[in-house]
Amino acid sequence: MNILGIETSCDDTGVAIVSAQTDGSFKILANIIKSQDHTKTKGVVPEVAARHHAQAIMPALDEALSTAGLTKTDLDCVAVTYGPGLVACLLVGVEAAKTVAVMLNLPMVAVNHMEAHIASTFIEHPHLKFPAVALLASGGHTMLVGMHDFQNFHLIGTTKDDAAGEAFDKVARMLDLPYPGGPAISLLAEQGDRLQYNFPKPMLNSDDFNFSFAGLKTSVLYHIRDHQPLSFQDRADVAASFQESVIEVLVSKTWQAAKLHHAQTVILGGGVSANKALQLRLKMVLQETLPQTQLIIPSPGLFTDNGAMIAVAAAVRALKKDFDNWENIKVDPRLKIAN
Ligand code: KG4
Ligand code: ZN
Repeated sequence: MNILGIETSCDDTGVAIVSAQTDGSFKILANIIKSQDHTKTKGVVPEVAARHHAQAIMPALDEALSTAGLTKTDLDCVAVTYGPGLVACLLVGVEAAKTVAVMLNLPMVAVNHMEAHIASTFIEHPHLKFPAVALLASGGHTMLVGMHDFQNFHLIGTTKDDAAGEAFDKVARMLDLPYPGGPAISLLAEQGDRLQYNFPKPMLNSDDFNFSFAGLKTSVLYHIRDHQPLSFQDRADVAASFQESVIEVLVSKTWQAAKLHHAQTVILGGGVSANKALQLRLKMVLQETLPQTQLIIPSPGLFTDNGAMIAVAAAVRALKKDFDNWENIKVDPRLKIAN
């Protein structure tokens, strides 16, 4: 089954074609991502992003078909992100997906963007062991999700304020680094001392699985304000120490959740999971303390938003012919993880 996956929830236009086999395996035939440049505004302006999606989406569809060596008639299903995300951006993807589906008389599956970040790991691990716990950390969300199978998700914990990626983006801005901040901070952090500054590690010892990064961000802001001018080394130390606080909290909570839920698998997903220091720390902690638990991360290119993860997330339902009526698909910017 050839599934077209469309993703426009934030600032990446993703159009992919994934072939889903009946044995549960997947093959990515095309995964076109048109990223937008928001460095000038140092953040995403929804209306600007939506306009970019509108311009990029149909050319991206043509490019996906030619990369896959397919024509429109080879498509079997259209999958699209309907939330969570920026409403103006989601609308572009959902309307484009409906147009394609109606024109080609194809069935549709509406996909939860956060569940799709988890699904991005299924391509390389189609037979992962359950129960699983996923840490999803992106620009808009930070959450721990439990899974008993490929379709049933439950929320274990979430952020009370800023998302982890948002904190990376805001601290990058304070350090005059480009947007998105995560890659820039992690690069600068490689030259810094992560133990130089003891920034807060919010909620580290709270008795739940929730997160909070606003206080950490403010603490970094005050530090920078009170230590002007910063040398290159100071900036690198701030980046490394800030990153250390985020990693410590994310890893500790994920480890606790994995232990409590007897996880056979821990999944790392969302843009922040591209962070090498985070990957290494989580791997080390799991190997030392829960050696039977396998850590899986998305393949390179599938960490950040893309259409392939949307197609894969839709596959279980599509193969069972469990489709959504296009007339009932409505964007939901605050869509929650299903229970
Ligand atoms: O999942 P994603 O592409 O889009 C959202 O759904 O938000 O995640 C983007 C976020 C941004 O906040 C970006 O700064 C962060 O992921 N990010 C990183 C890294 N690469 C991207 N954060 C930390 N370290 C990285 N290497
Ligand atoms: Zn995302």
